[in-house]
Amino acid sequence: MLEGATRLPTIEIDRTRLRWLAADDVPSLFAIFGDPEVSRYRLRPPFHSLADAEEMLRRVHELFAERTLFQWGIALRDSDEVVGTATLLSISPEHARAELGFALRRDHWRQGLVGEAMPALLQFAFRTLGLGRLEADVDPRNTASIRVLERLGFRQEGFLRQRYRVGGEWQDAAIYGLLRSEWEKGRAAS
Ligand SMILES: CC(C)(COP(=O)(O)OP(=O)(O)OC[C@H]1O[C@@H](n2cnc3c(N)ncnc32)[C@H](O)[C@@H]1OP(=O)(O)O)[C@@H](O)C(=O)NCCC(=O)NCCS
Repeated sequence: MLEGATRLPTIEIDRTRLRWLAADDVPSLFAIFGDPEVSRYRLRPPFHSLADAEEMLRRVHELFAERTLFQWGIALRDSDEVVGTATLLSISPEHARAELGFALRRDHWRQGLVGEAMPALLQFAFRTLGLGRLEADVDPRNTASIRVLERLGFRQEGFLRQRYRVGGEWQDAAIYGLLRSEWEKGRAAS
């Protein structure tokens, strides 16, 4: 998968681009993931310091080298500032599948930026990488994420009760899936 590549390719969207994350983006990553509202339905606590963002970047690069995680920065086209991330995680070449994830800095919510960017990422996943299935594991209370997934054509396939224990609290998981065949059909229809 992306044989020989030393970094992710840039994907141009309308108002944003998906691009490789670099050391200069550490303060931007902290601004995104240091916000408890952004981390509310994630399985990790909000970042406490820039060191947490540095560690994240180190893992992003390490797992890219292993080809198990592709995490792009969502950068504003005009300024190139990173205001979110878009992720393919748990990538399995054997089963041609991955999980989809996304997050946006809170002051950019509700502008449709993620909804606008995801179709290009799906195209990359299904066409360029040749994946056959994408899935998402989302907290059922995470209305905005579920809306984004449903608009992309994902359908709910499962509901796992008390799948996680976060900060001493049980958290359910809604499992969503999208097959390449369904995505192709949706594209042909639109
Ligand atoms: C999920 C997230 C990326 C959505 O980004 P966004 O760019 O604001 O999404 P959009 O503007 O495209 O909105 C998507 C839909 O959700 C709705 N929505 C957005 N924020 C909402 C909120 N806080 N509560 C309820 N609905 C919301 C929008 O109205 C829109 O609905 P529509 O399709 O019917 O018009 C953003 O909320 C976020 O970063 N959340 C925290 C991180 C996270 O939970 N990631 C997902 C883990 S799987």
